[in-house]
Amino acid sequence: MAPPSIDELAAVAAALAAPGKGLLASDESTGTIGKRLEKGGIENTAENRRAYRELLYTAPGIGGAFSGVIMFKETLGQCASDGTPFVEVLRRAGVMAGIKVDEGLVPLEGGEEGETSTRGLETLEAACRQYVAQGARFAKWRAALRVEEGRCPSDLAVKVNAEQLAEYAAICQAAGLVPIVEPELLIDGPHSAETFAAASEKAIAACVAALWRRGVALEACLLKPQMVVQGTECSAPRAAPEQVAAATLRVMRRVVPPAVAGIMFLSGGQTEEEATRNLDAINKLAKEEGRAPWSLSFSFGRGLQASVLKIWSNAPPSRASEARAMAGALAEANAAAARGEFA
Ligand code: 13P
Repeated sequence: MAPPSIDELAAVAAALAAPGKGLLASDESTGTIGKRLEKGGIENTAENRRAYRELLYTAPGIGGAFSGVIMFKETLGQCASDGTPFVEVLRRAGVMAGIKVDEGLVPLEGGEEGETSTRGLETLEAACRQYVAQGARFAKWRAALRVEEGRCPSDLAVKVNAEQLAEYAAICQAAGLVPIVEPELLIDGPHSAETFAAASEKAIAACVAALWRRGVALEACLLKPQMVVQGTECSAPRAAPEQVAAATLRVMRRVVPPAVAGIMFLSGGQTEEEATRNLDAINKLAKEEGRAPWSLSFSFGRGLQASVLKIWSNAPPSRASEARAMAGALAEANAAAARGEFA
């Protein structure tokens, strides 16, 4: 079968960015989810990973809150306990399946200490074909950029990661997947919100330019950036959601073309509450000012899962329904924030 046309992919991107809906990022690699499970005393087995994801995918009301769910390759092939494939469980709820296609971070040769690029381009085309056959409609590739006043991200890190993201996006579109372009700026460190804003602008602008040079259709892409926040070790008082919203919208307006269907923020180490309040403030401000050409929504991992894992970790079988209810409540809260109706 011929892969979907760009118009068809643009329709998928628009559906993923539907007003008031967002994405659940449940694509933690086996190692990453394992660390989170083991912290709660749960063994990192395929069955425990499956059972945990089932809980997330069967939470009440997810069809009203999520347009898509991003999965890790292991999960894409797994089934609910009644034997129904997860992709089908989600489809019945009106939620599209997505897939993390990068193979993780590696040190960036010639970059500053701690800088990285992302692996996975060599095998991407074949992998995409397989993921499409397994029911995936969209993909995610994560670049991670360190922020450090006067040092990071280096020009090299910005350039290499932008080019990798653009190549990934082009391969996805040719294979029939909507690419989520994720240049994540890391919030670790003492940097100010101003330093973070300047770094975000530089990194996102470079990605957009690389996408354009590579001939990627922006209508058939989603962007997944971090909100503009100060570093976790910044000595200044925490910025109010209204300040985060103003700084974030300023950066996005400067560098993200209106052709992009949706800006789906990651939570990236913010607490659940911070991420939700900040997203809510972004949408309130965009509405108040009456000018935002894109959807402003979420593609949260920890922001939709931290409390769920905490409940489920201690005694999984007995507390599964409580954990599922928490997953539903977090989904609903963030869908409200995506409409600017949370607080
Ligand atoms: P967090 O929201 O936990 O940052 O996860 C989102 C994600 O998918 C990062 O790649």
